[in-house]
Amino acid sequence: MSDPFQGRVAVITGGAGGIGFGMAEAFAARGAKIALADVDEPGMEARAKALRARGAEVACVRTDVTDRASVEALADAVWSRFGAAHVVCNNAGIAIAGPLLQMTPDDWRLTMDIDFWGVVYGTYAFVPRMIEQKQGGHLVNTASMAGLVGMSWLGVYCAAKFAVVGFTESLKRELEPHGIGVSVLCPMIVATDITANSMRMRGMEAPKAAAPAQPPPAAMKGGVIGVADVTPRIVAAIETNQLYILTHPEQRDFLRRRAAKLDAACP
Ligand SMILES: NC(=O)c1ccc[n+]([C@@H]2O[C@H](COP(=O)([O-])OP(=O)(O)OC[C@H]3O[C@@H](n4cnc5c(N)ncnc54)[C@H](O)[C@@H]3O)[C@@H](O)[C@H]2O)c1
Repeated sequence: MSDPFQGRVAVITGGAGGIGFGMAEAFAARGAKIALADVDEPGMEARAKALRARGAEVACVRTDVTDRASVEALADAVWSRFGAAHVVCNNAGIAIAGPLLQMTPDDWRLTMDIDFWGVVYGTYAFVPRMIEQKQGGHLVNTASMAGLVGMSWLGVYCAAKFAVVGFTESLKRELEPHGIGVSVLCPMIVATDITANSMRMRGMEAPKAAAPAQPPPAAMKGGVIGVADVTPRIVAAIETNQLYILTHPEQRDFLRRRAAKLDAACP
């Protein structure tokens, strides 16, 4: 199989930081050209500068994944700059935690708009053109372990991420004949600024670094790993066309328990 990264074009939403920028670094290290897409323009530019200093070709496109026209404009910008797209990562996301019955319609809308519709818009903007360009490629949609197991205090996030998993599993089957691989990234906790960024996105003041960490009633239990622990798994999944990208060994027990409950419920 030809190298999925060398000389190819990778597009990453939510690329201004966290897991998205980690993907950009990993793909650029393998020789890919990078398009970062994010609402955080200064963050994106600073990250792009760092990548360019390492010799990568990088474009930054201000993109709001909740706005279909903005995501279509991203695809236009990518084709006009690079003439193709091969690895597309619908990764932008936020996480809102709290008891489900305290979640407001605005909490629901914002989460679904970014975490779910952002993935759908990204897929619709890029995949038809990838099919047309007949160069194969790979789509990575970022869900979460919260897209595979329901968790207290993360109900809204779980609903959005379960939707991403279902959407991506279906897409995998439909894109196979076109030679386009599909993966869904489902990590447990990764050390990023997602809590502060999500609060900012909701118009709330992010906690000061010195302030006590957000109380952790959200039931995403497990170790905290770094972005650098996640990205090699993403690279490997693209290379070998794996649907599920899991990141933490403790995921096995949670998933086994869920599978056992489903098994026991079968008539
Ligand atoms: N960090 C974790 O523990 C964890 C675990 C499981 C899944 N995830 C998922 O990983 C993805 C990346 O999260 P992260 O942890 O790197 O967080 P992050 O906050 O570091 O990165 C998310 C990026 O998305 C961008 N973004 C937010 N709304 C946007 C919008 N409307 N349009 C464009 N960009 C937007 C932000 O500016 C930010 O740069 C998210 O989908 C998140 O749900 C994270």
